[in-house]
Amino acid sequence: MTKQIRFRSLLSCLLVIVSFVVITVVQRPDKAGAQTPPPQAGGPIRPLAKRSDQAIADTALQSIEKGRETFRFDTFGDEAFWGDTLNLDATIAGAANGGIGPGLSPKQAFGLGLKVDVSALPAALQDQLRAGAINLDDPAVTVALLQLNAVVGVKGFFSSGKLSSVGIQCALCHSTVNDSFAPGIGSRLDGWANRDLNVGAIVAFAPDLSALTNLFGVSQDMVRQVLNSWGPGKFDAELALDGKGFRPDGKTAATLIPPAFGLAGVNLHTWTGWGSVTHWNAFVANLEMHGKGIFFDPRLNDTSKFPIAAANGFGNVRTTPDLITRKLADLHFYQLAIPAPAPPNSSFSATAAARGRALFAGKAACATCHVPPLFTEPGWNMHTPAEVGIDDFQAKRSPDERYRTSPLKGLWTHMKGGFYHDGRFANLLDVVNHYNGVKSLGLTEAEKQDLVEYLKSL
Ligand code: HEC
Ligand code: HEC
Repeated sequence: MTKQIRFRSLLSCLLVIVSFVVITVVQRPDKAGAQTPPPQAGGPIRPLAKRSDQAIADTALQSIEKGRETFRFDTFGDEAFWGDTLNLDATIAGAANGGIGPGLSPKQAFGLGLKVDVSALPAALQDQLRAGAINLDDPAVTVALLQLNAVVGVKGFFSSGKLSSVGIQCALCHSTVNDSFAPGIGSRLDGWANRDLNVGAIVAFAPDLSALTNLFGVSQDMVRQVLNSWGPGKFDAELALDGKGFRPDGKTAATLIPPAFGLAGVNLHTWTGWGSVTHWNAFVANLEMHGKGIFFDPRLNDTSKFPIAAANGFGNVRTTPDLITRKLADLHFYQLAIPAPAPPNSSFSATAAARGRALFAGKAACATCHVPPLFTEPGWNMHTPAEVGIDDFQAKRSPDERYRTSPLKGLWTHMKGGFYHDGRFANLLDVVNHYNGVKSLGLTEAEKQDLVEYLKSL
């Protein structure tokens, strides 16, 4: 025992001496004859700092690439719902292609607002399309487009050449295309709200909605009536929580699909400020897309506000395998990296916009809430319905019962579908008129126009 200890301390001593010698030699390179420049202030730290800066930049790039892949192409296993349960693949393919019914032709798909990514189309197919040699009334073409992975936000699964399931991706609602090839066919525009997309009509296209009738405890007819009331550009993320299909005035309870760009620096997200981007991503992937993962939000256990969510345990979802959680960091990072696109110069009057900018910060007092350059408040960016002069129906369907100050950059990309959470204001002039009334701003007609030009320039 003692011998061993003594041997160990001897060994440690030796090691210390050897290290000392090595360090001395290494630290005195001049003795070895090398002509190294004298170290500058902080010199020895610099290469390390550079390496770590580089590592951060590399990680950021990798994260953006992985997040983009998830945003565009991941279904999180939700084909188990959209395909295997709702059987949407069968009605898309049609009886002639191994499914049921007449099928979904490309023309009908475009009519529902679905988009095609031109980069996924082989050159020969592009030539045929240009020559009008492709029958856009044939559902087999829709199936072929799915097989090419060309339909934005929809993934087809195939077994022995036949469409066997379909899943959906974030890009379905939060991407469109630039129509560079033809209307509905072009390059992807990630983060843009697809205000042509009729989600309700697409879901209602499923042959069997019993999964939804069981959830809500109502008839298939009722479910279809709710889904068909949404219309283009809208979706109801709260329906699966509270089962409210319609507002008290009888109009649809669905809200507009917002853009998913320009969100960096913005604290709370969604029209009613449910949480951060990553909270909502987990929420949507698990509860709306029906992907497989883990989601925790005990606010959903409120039986009076969220009866359906509380009864079904949506506040604590644990599905295995978890196909979502490990993708959340990169997905979050990617969305924060998508800038709000700048409007084309020709789309607004620069001189009027300059006057509008002064009004926005001054007489119209918009900037008190829409603080530039975020155009929402740094901090808790939430307001009571009364503060913005509207009803509380949608606010009451959320935990904080308020509306989130919308970040206004890139308004020009979503002129379709109206403004405010439910599109109640058909255009920007209507929005300005609303504030002019409820806030008694006393704006002249010319000033209102200037404000509108400014909003178009953001
Ligand atoms: C079926 C259509 C649909 C799909 C699919 C979808 N979203 Fe959304 N998204 C919406 C709607 C509608 C809202 C507004 C919800 C609300 O306010 O209640 C929204 C809100 C958001 C917001 C908040 C934007 C803001 O202005 O604060 C983000 C971020 C977002 N979605 C990201 C995603 C991601 C990431 C995915 C994929 C995991 C996804 N969404 C899938 C329709 C969709
Ligand atoms: C009290 C804070 C507050 C003030 C002041 C305010 N806004 Fe807003 N703004 C909001 C909130 C909250 C919303 C979201 C309303 C909703 O979701 O229905 C919003 C929404 C908007 C929208 C719709 C965005 C979209 O994507 O649909 C526009 C445009 C807008 N505001 C412009 C203005 C202008 C112009 C002014 C000045 C005349 C102004 N706001 C003053 C809080 C404010």
